[in-house]
Amino acid sequence: MKKTISDLQNSPTPLVCLTAYTAPMMAIMDKHCDLVLVGDSVSMVLYGEDSTQKADMEMMVRHGHAVSKTAQKAFVIVDMPYGSYENDAVEALKNAQIIMDKTGCDGIKLEGGKDQASTIQYLTSNDIPIMGHIGLLPQSVNDIKDYKVQGRIESEAKALMNDAKAVEEAGAFGIVIEAVPEPLAAAITASVNIPTIGIGASNVCDGQILVSEDMLGLSLGRSPKFVKQYANIGQQIEQSIKQYVSDVQSRAFPAAENTYKAKKQNELKKAS
Ligand code: KIV
Repeated sequence: MKKTISDLQNSPTPLVCLTAYTAPMMAIMDKHCDLVLVGDSVSMVLYGEDSTQKADMEMMVRHGHAVSKTAQKAFVIVDMPYGSYENDAVEALKNAQIIMDKTGCDGIKLEGGKDQASTIQYLTSNDIPIMGHIGLLPQSVNDIKDYKVQGRIESEAKALMNDAKAVEEAGAFGIVIEAVPEPLAAAITASVNIPTIGIGASNVCDGQILVSEDMLGLSLGRSPKFVKQYANIGQQIEQSIKQYVSDVQSRAFPAAENTYKAKKQNELKKAS
């Protein structure tokens, strides 16, 4: 059975969330995750771009479709790309409907707090399930060195608390909170009635999300402090490629079991 918003909002255990951009990754995650996000991080992780601003509608629809059609159980969210929603609620609705229709996803995520509340309200009142995203907003960061913890000073913390409340009041069913100190994550989680999904926001949130390639050791560059690396798949891939190189060069591959044989004369007669 596919997870519903009600399942996510009433989960007795912390929500387990990861990103996926492809069908094989989704197939592996489906049994284990409550929610899978087709993040605009796809532009950096799969395409090697320097910013999530490089993701566009075509990219989100392509990857969103691959992931959504593979999901049997997990709730699938697709990110609205940079430039597709921030300036005009009517354009946001048009683009959200394109993403929902063309991917078959279960909901949409967009970045922003108070400044996006009226757009979130417009989308939710038009039956688009919305997950908010506050704290560090990667679409607003132009340089990787500006990925910084948010809400460390009181004025910023107050603004983030107001952002969370505005997103909830606008009808979002959940909020991603990125890169904030634990006390603020705890205060926000206690103040809103929708699940908070933390990324770099401590274990007090109602759920956790990571970029899968970061936790699997498959991303380019350095991962943030909040990532725990559970595997080093990049190293395993390199090891396999080295073995392939050696097998090809020594003619150990292809071996007999990887090679087609011609049919014998009597087998050819039987077949005809
Ligand atoms: O795009 C993404 O992967 C995200 C996560 C970091 C939450 O928004």
